[in-house]
Amino acid sequence: MENTQAFISDNKQRFLDELLDLLRVPSISADPAYAGDVRKTAEVIANRLNEAGADNVEICETDGYPIVYGDKILDAALPTVLVYGHYDVQPADPIDLWDSPAFEPVVKKTELHPDGAIFARGACDDKGQMYMHVKAFEAMMQTSELPCNVKFMIEGEEEVGSANLGTFVKNNKEKLQADVILVSDTGMLANDVPSITTGLRGLSYVEVEVTGPNRDLHSGLYGGCVANPLNILAKMVASLHDENNHITIPGFYDKVIELTDEERAEMARAPFSKEAYCKSIDIADVYGEEGYTTMERGSIRPTLDVNGMWGGYIGEGAKTVIPSKAYAKISMRLVPDQDPEEITNLFMDHFTSIAPAGTTVKVTPHHGGEPAVTPIDSIGYKAASLAYEKTFGKKPIPVRSGGSIPIVAMFEKELGLKTILMGFGLDSDAIHSPNEHYGLFNYYKGIETIPHFYSYFKELLNN
Ligand code: BES
Ligand code: MN
Ligand code: MN
Repeated sequence: MENTQAFISDNKQRFLDELLDLLRVPSISADPAYAGDVRKTAEVIANRLNEAGADNVEICETDGYPIVYGDKILDAALPTVLVYGHYDVQPADPIDLWDSPAFEPVVKKTELHPDGAIFARGACDDKGQMYMHVKAFEAMMQTSELPCNVKFMIEGEEEVGSANLGTFVKNNKEKLQADVILVSDTGMLANDVPSITTGLRGLSYVEVEVTGPNRDLHSGLYGGCVANPLNILAKMVASLHDENNHITIPGFYDKVIELTDEERAEMARAPFSKEAYCKSIDIADVYGEEGYTTMERGSIRPTLDVNGMWGGYIGEGAKTVIPSKAYAKISMRLVPDQDPEEITNLFMDHFTSIAPAGTTVKVTPHHGGEPAVTPIDSIGYKAASLAYEKTFGKKPIPVRSGGSIPIVAMFEKELGLKTILMGFGLDSDAIHSPNEHYGLFNYYKGIETIPHFYSYFKELLNN
């Protein structure tokens, strides 16, 4: 891999410039106003794969946004790595809180990124991380050092639930045959504490609507006499956690796999500073489920959070009104072996049952996803671990993440393949938030580490 590494260091500026170009296209999958930009991004990715040396590059149409495919099959006898990533991004909202425009990338130094970080929506999640794979591939191709066959599958609907990826995978099992799936769409503990993600939470997402009277009412004439949907919704939502912050939905924890004391002790070895954590998000103290550490609350425990709640009068000044309707969006992060559909049903039954007379409740499920865990004794994990050790000079720590990538569980089900989550972002990179950024150190480290994964994977698989 020496020539590959030399190629990478000779092409750093170009690798950066190309990513910046990619970040200028606002590929927001959630907002139909950007449909043209999302499609344009798919075309750019396809061109870049071609230029990097991929064969069979194809923009695969789906019922939604296309999936970009490309491969390099050197020899059927060699191991095959299937790379997954996404080219769509979250909306930039709230745009007022960005220090520079979300789709006009700039490189600035920060405390955690003294070498500079790229500020733009998608810099870390996931254009920057996905593009590391394209550049690592290019470097291996240019130097004739590619050790394995490669297949790329880059989608454009991850941030809206990957609704069409399942069908694509089911219909293309042959095409997607591989020995391992490689994804960079997660994070690591710190730039000097490399880690590999070994678990992702699942997701159940619902929207609730509480209806009271058939129209908005005068809050003087009717106040005190009827159920106010907003008061009731606040009460119902508050009742979903008890005084220990356990979730009160009957059956919610039935399938949760509790970790052994040994596993918890192992987890506790990862460095964590409560002070630094609080300081980074400006809070005086942490808050969460009794009996678990912050690390555990954010990874091995399920959660329930209101993402938004509205209704009634929210304009300027005061309007005295009892609203007819109140709404909330609620997400539940799930852990093995909770089933998203089952949890959604438990939520529906419970939430409907606690509504008082004089109100009606409607629960609408949104997209969900299953949790996933990856073993640390697989060849893929070992290859990733050795690759990080090579470039960081330290053995990476296995860490379960709190985020969700629902397709990981689906890959296992449909393709029978485990996914290796080689993420290089930091939690502080503000993904989905204003001022999302990605360290140059992280971008280049990723490009350098990926080729080592390929060579170790081939080596370990053949032994
Ligand atoms: N890349 C993230 C998930 C992630 C980030 C996992 C950091 C672990 C560490 C992904 O793009 C994402 O945002 N997923 C969504 C779920 C999806 C169904 C919208 C999430 O976790 O909210
Ligand atoms: Mn992502
Ligand atoms: Mn995301």
